[in-house]
Amino acid sequence: METVFPKDFLWGGAVAANQIEGAYNIDGKGLSTADVVRYVPPAERGSLDELLGMSRSRLEEAIKDTKGNYPKRRGIDFYHRYKEDIALFAEMGFKVFRLSISWPRIFPNGDDSTPNEAGLEFYDRVFDELLKHGMEPLVTISHYEIPVELVRRYNGWASRELIELFVRYAEVLFTRYKGKVKYWLTFNEINCTLKAPFLGAGVIIEEEPNPKQTAFQALHHQFVASALAVQKLRQIDSNAKIGCMLARKLIYPYTCHPLDVLQAQEENQMAQFCTDVQVRGSYPSFIRRHWQEHGVTIEMHPEDESILKENLVDYLAFSYYMSVTASANPAEAAQASGNLSGGLANPHLKSSEWGWQIDPVGLRIVLKEMYDRYQIPLFVVENGLGAIDRVEDDGSIQDDYRIEYFARHIEQMGEAIKDGVELWGYTSWGCIDLISASTSEMRKRYGFIYVDQDDEGKGSLKRTPKKSFYWYKKVIASCGANLDND
Ligand code: BG6
Repeated sequence: METVFPKDFLWGGAVAANQIEGAYNIDGKGLSTADVVRYVPPAERGSLDELLGMSRSRLEEAIKDTKGNYPKRRGIDFYHRYKEDIALFAEMGFKVFRLSISWPRIFPNGDDSTPNEAGLEFYDRVFDELLKHGMEPLVTISHYEIPVELVRRYNGWASRELIELFVRYAEVLFTRYKGKVKYWLTFNEINCTLKAPFLGAGVIIEEEPNPKQTAFQALHHQFVASALAVQKLRQIDSNAKIGCMLARKLIYPYTCHPLDVLQAQEENQMAQFCTDVQVRGSYPSFIRRHWQEHGVTIEMHPEDESILKENLVDYLAFSYYMSVTASANPAEAAQASGNLSGGLANPHLKSSEWGWQIDPVGLRIVLKEMYDRYQIPLFVVENGLGAIDRVEDDGSIQDDYRIEYFARHIEQMGEAIKDGVELWGYTSWGCIDLISASTSEMRKRYGFIYVDQDDEGKGSLKRTPKKSFYWYKKVIASCGANLDND
């Protein structure tokens, strides 16, 4: 069978430290912002904003609480089971494994004078294990968590002080893992700082007089920190590559009415401007108009402009799960839910059990559009289907719906490659079942590998390959040529 994927295409899977590691207070690790997020059962959940937000009193309460249900504290115990998990990834033929480093495992309070050696050793062991199995680690430096102490002292990324602390943390990582890690990413889904400031930037937005101002300011600090990390990596390890990472939810106009088209364009731009900054090196003009109209004035230091201009990323990574629509008259259309934020429904698409609209062709559109706009290599570092899996009487998990989701998305990536897009790799999200970022659930499963654990943390944690495990193995072995489900 002929494949359109390059021979060295990086097939693999992706996870984040706070959603898998567990061991939240072991070997010197400090508390992270993910460790203070309490599980809320579906019937008691308010809006997504409420679920993802944080108040100072809730934070202090959670820090003291050792008995409540905080799923990200336990993850899926990857901390102790990484060898078994990595062996399963190797069995599928992974060429790359995307993971993140927990900042408070390295600097427990974020501003400690020396790094925590036990934390650094843990990632040494993980990287060595991956390399032993021929897998490249693809490492996100900050994936939806910062040390809790940085929230208490600085209100997270709202404060400029975090730039220096982050760059020092990144420098420690680059120096320690030089030669082991070839692919780095600075911030996961950096645009989510605007939608979910606590999740994305450790900012308690509820206490801010102008939340929009604070969120944009926090994002500016992250842009500068990211650019300085790029600069550091170039000084320390010139063989490694570093990218930015965007949550790319495609937004179509609800109708062909010009005002709907404009609305969709503006909503798409609210994500794209982040990559404009990190790939092109400056804020685009449309964002300045947006700031003006919303009373936002970004405080910039004189050197910021040149820092952003001179330290561009090597590649652009992004997550893609779904698409929505936008209208100038939103009341006309039904709502759809989505990855950290929703939009309007699209009558042509079906949805997942969580209401995320499934749109494989949208992935091709996004790939073409981003390549056209930036002309640098792309990497799909998250894509997947959150679903409820059933364990059959014989212990198997027949997740044909997941195979269908992946097959159609991989097919569209192939089309984009035929269109001329330079695509380095594909890491499906949650290649092993893990704790959900938004809802802290376990029952929303993404993996090729089933993990026996429920939302309350009950279960044996036993790992079982699902039907999709054997399917993905075949996909990788054929370098994307064989997508059949047989
Ligand atoms: C992305 C995040 O937004 O979506 C992941 O980078 C997250 O951390 C994934 O897990 C899926 O979202 P959820 O809320 O279903 O876990």
